Amino acid sequence: LTPENQTILSASEWLTKLYHHLLRYTKDGKEGYQYFKDRGISDEIVDLFQLGFAPNVKDFTAEFLKKKGFHQQVLVKAGLLTLQEDGNVTDRFRGRVIFPIRNHLGKTIGFSGRTVVDQEPKYLNSSESELFQKGKTLYNFDLAKKHIRKQNEAVLFEGYMDVISAYQAGIKNGIATMGTSLTENQAKLLKRYVDTVIICYDADDAGIDATFKVASLLRKIGFQVKIANLKNNLDPDEFIKQYGADSFINEVIKASHTYMSFYMRYLKKNYNLSLEGDRIKYIETVLKQIAGIESSVEREYYLKELSNEYNVTMDTLVEEIQAHRQKMG
Ligand code: GTP
Ligand code: MN
Ligand code: MN
Ligand code: MN
Ligand code: MN
Repeated sequence: LTPENQTILSASEWLTKLYHHLLRYTKDGKEGYQYFKDRGISDEIVDLFQLGFAPNVKDFTAEFLKKKGFHQQVLVKAGLLTLQEDGNVTDRFRGRVIFPIRNHLGKTIGFSGRTVVDQEPKYLNSSESELFQKGKTLYNFDLAKKHIRKQNEAVLFEGYMDVISAYQAGIKNGIATMGTSLTENQAKLLKRYVDTVIICYDADDAGIDATFKVASLLRKIGFQVKIANLKNNLDPDEFIKQYGADSFINEVIKASHTYMSFYMRYLKKNYNLSLEGDRIKYIETVLKQIAGIESSVEREYYLKELSNEYNVTMDTLVEEIQAHRQKMG
């Protein structure tokens, strides 16, 4: 670590504590405290995730860090402070609730600030730097690691609030990307700890498309992929708020679908299955996927599903699939 990055780490640590302290114990942070209360987050969880608030006061953070002996230049470069045209500096995150982003060792390497008054952008992240690389960081990995190992399963969410709500509901092996798509780098890091990933993205169109994309990447890298059973356009946090922790655990996480049954449903939207031509193309495409499954028991399971649903004999499907598997070598 360069001396400059050392300094940024140290400033980030101070800021984490400052933002959190302000939220928990001061009038300046009351708005942030109330925000998390309104979203149903307990004090215990606020403390565990070190959630905070950056007051909407121009030089609050700058003054604090100056008193701690930090040079402004470094903080501006690290994106913690913003240099204004008049030469003054302000807090990049002012007026926002703060989610510290920790690396796998639990050290704060950056922040995400969420607006509490519907400003744009909804979330504002630290800028990319040597220290803070979104494509290499998994939110909550430091806390989730031991649960991921123990359960040999990780749950991948879209958002910070999903991770936090799920944790409060008892799902402690949850992680999230930083608002970006999962990278190969992140997937490979995860593979060192676990073989199975449950994807629990928002149940809206964007989330479903992203699920398919991420599932393909994870499978390529050798994961067992499951898809959480979320419905009705909700995101995990909204689901928990609406239906409670038990429903979330039993009806969403434990009721996860296999990748293939998700795939079979996902693919349907590209076809008009009342047309015979489309139906045949659909079955062909699914068969190709099934042919790639290693376990013969699993292959048979999906073939039966296809056979029942589309009234094709098992003999025909088995013949087709053998042809595919021969082609694959
Ligand atoms: P809440 O509204 O607080 O519940 O957030 P959410 O997580 O449900 O938001 P959404 O599903 O829209 O986005 C998922 C994730 O994408 C967020 O947790 C962020 O990491 C990221 N994200 C969302 N909006 C923005 C944005 O405006 N800017 C950036 N940089 N990231 C965003
Ligand atoms: Mn959004
Ligand atoms: Mn979303
Ligand atoms: Mn969401
Ligand atoms: Mn949400």
